[in-house]
Amino acid sequence: MSGLFITLEGPEGSGKTTAALRIVDTLKTLGYEVVYTREPGGIEIAEQIRQVILDPKNTAMDAKTEALLYAASRRQHLVEKVMPALQTGKIVLCDRFVDSSLVYQGMARNLGIETVYQMNLFAIEDVMPDLTIFFDVEPTVGLARIAADNTREVNRLDMETIEFHQKVYEGYLEVARHFPNRIQSIDASQNQDTVFEQCLSLIKSRL
Ligand code: TMP
Repeated sequence: MSGLFITLEGPEGSGKTTAALRIVDTLKTLGYEVVYTREPGGIEIAEQIRQVILDPKNTAMDAKTEALLYAASRRQHLVEKVMPALQTGKIVLCDRFVDSSLVYQGMARNLGIETVYQMNLFAIEDVMPDLTIFFDVEPTVGLARIAADNTREVNRLDMETIEFHQKVYEGYLEVARHFPNRIQSIDASQNQDTVFEQCLSLIKSRL
């Protein structure tokens, strides 16, 4: 595939979305064709699956069901939106991808990182990002940012304990160690301008 597949990863409140919007604007101004999307969601079927997964009422959801639903939404989003864009040479900037499943379901839900990775191979085949930017911020900092933002939706995973979010964070550190070339970490506790500049410089180095 001729495009560039970039994913943004990090705990809740790590500032991915804020940075992404500025990155997209800047890359477009530089003349690149960019598709900005997110998981779970990004297309109709995957947005419908997102509603089921993140509905605060669905407290009975089993961890494996949750992992399978994320993988199902990932599959549809990949074939319907990501792969066609990459095949026509575009830059795809995706807010979350398989690493989120590795850390949220594999680590925080205790299904095992390797088990969740193997299960996801059915959905993604051999498609992995060219670059993943990990927004490294302690969960207490991220959750405090969310608490201060009353415009943001509150979903089922936001209602988890601090221990859950701590495991998510540790999962990210572990996954980043496993994929040192693909996953590049930035200190996301810095101010928004610095975080944005560091993301842009990482992306420019891959263009
Ligand atoms: P977000 O759009 O605010 O990032 O919310 C998506 C939530 O879903 C977030 O809590 C992370 C979680 N998630 C998983 O648990 N596994 C996954 O594979 C993905 C993509 C997201």
